[in-house]
Amino acid sequence: MSQPDHVRIFDTTLRDGEQSPGATMTSSEKLEVAKTLSRLGVDIIEAGFAAASPDDLLAVRGIAEGVGITAVEGRPVAEPPRICSLARAAKGDIDKAWEAVSPAKHPRIHTFLATSPIHREHKLRMSKAEVLAKITEMVTYARGLCADIEFSPEDAGRTEMEFLYEAIQAAIEAGATTINIPDTVGYTTPDEFGNRIALIHQNVVGIERAIISVHCHNDLGLAVANSLAALQNGARQVEVAVNGIGERAGNASLEEVVMALKVRHDRFKLTTSVDSTQLTRISRLVSKVTGMSVQPNKAIVGANAFAHEAGIHQDGMLKNQETYEIMRPETVGASQSLLVLGKHSGRAAFANRLTELGYPLAATELHKAFERFKSLADKKKHITDADLLALVSDELYQPEELYRLDQLQVTCGTGMPTATVRLEIPGGELRTVSTVGTGPVDAVYMAIQQIVNIPVTLLEYSVQSVTRGIDALGEVNVRVRADDEPTDVDESRINPQSGGSRARVYHGHGAHTDVIVASAKAYLASLNRLLSVQQIRSAREAEVAPST
Ligand code: KIV
Ligand code: ZN
Repeated sequence: MSQPDHVRIFDTTLRDGEQSPGATMTSSEKLEVAKTLSRLGVDIIEAGFAAASPDDLLAVRGIAEGVGITAVEGRPVAEPPRICSLARAAKGDIDKAWEAVSPAKHPRIHTFLATSPIHREHKLRMSKAEVLAKITEMVTYARGLCADIEFSPEDAGRTEMEFLYEAIQAAIEAGATTINIPDTVGYTTPDEFGNRIALIHQNVVGIERAIISVHCHNDLGLAVANSLAALQNGARQVEVAVNGIGERAGNASLEEVVMALKVRHDRFKLTTSVDSTQLTRISRLVSKVTGMSVQPNKAIVGANAFAHEAGIHQDGMLKNQETYEIMRPETVGASQSLLVLGKHSGRAAFANRLTELGYPLAATELHKAFERFKSLADKKKHITDADLLALVSDELYQPEELYRLDQLQVTCGTGMPTATVRLEIPGGELRTVSTVGTGPVDAVYMAIQQIVNIPVTLLEYSVQSVTRGIDALGEVNVRVRADDEPTDVDESRINPQSGGSRARVYHGHGAHTDVIVASAKAYLASLNRLLSVQQIRSAREAEVAPST
């Protein structure tokens, strides 16, 4: 039985978060995120939408087997998180969700059906009575498989209250244990949404048999405020995503909800099981594997969240930190301590610092990361934790290197920017191309394109420095779209809510003290990611193709 003041944190980074354009993660990246979420202390991990594709099912199952059990990598876990899969209100989806989550100690199926007039009439073409009957049928079916069932009346924020009560009551009577109220389109305001939750409490017969959850989208920038208003009105589960990623403008951000509850405990009087000192780490990991950078002024985890620029503020901070700081950076794991190791430090000390930062590397990864640390230490006097994390994640969260950057030379200035690029191509041969571009990055990208030869459109290119100073590491993120991939029907990426589809976007990142090298690495990583996904897809198609 949970405490009345305990809020369950339901993380949907791997499901709704992954629906952000271009945020596609590989199965191993998803597993890494799930392990980190488990260490963070979230109560429920929505690991994906198993029916979306065979890959998605395997990814959810991998998390159920690897994180949802009582020992992870040989270390006992007292209480593993619940592992959940989304499923449309259809037997096929529910079966696949169950197949994926059943290995977990605490499996959950999350099924949903839209209830608002606009969805009923235009998307489902179902009457109210048909919607209610479907909820009863599918929740009963899911409950026959799994004891822990969450039901969401999709677009609850725009559903008539009387019909919402009926839908929720039907789900509870059929066996739902959690009722999630989604503001699917981010339309409501905090007072309105809080009031909806209070009314549900007062008017739904049997509501005490279920936990009320909320799932708010950020279309008006109100997702966190709406979630907090709901908690003040009796909701005890909140659905959030790391860095606030998710469909369109995203979901309520995990770190903002958790820290609002913690810092303003005096008002909310609610607690979570999250270890807030892990928040910066999970934010960086998610940013890295999704390729979605965190805006510098983002609350809690942005690079400037604890930076004091104005003289008056700095003066105040020196006198008493509380003048301009409502929480310490250490509370969210954002300390910027200098690495006490220099270019003469040994591998053991380096490995030790990484372990302290939460990256206990295996021998091969450690070897590669140490080589890069040494070469960085030759160029940069002070290496901060931020440098170290950029460097390690650049090593770890990269797709398979089908094409590898071997050498790069650029000449630029007011004349003709020229790049000579040498890549190791699959099979080990080295290939060199020189091109002239509008600038050095353009020239490098054209040269890489001439060797790899995959038609893509560059959608986004961004460069950031990891720390301050002229010798800082530069981090580059790019997103590309494959020009020759169909964008109409792509089953593996069907958006579970709309039933529609989307173009595939692939991201890549690179870090280096030379931003042109970082740019080349990022672009190549996006192309390698695209090629790996295409290879996996063709192999799978070959497996299922009928033999002639
Ligand atoms: O936004 C939404 O309505 C959802 C549901 C599937 C919970 O993501
Ligand atoms: Zn959603």
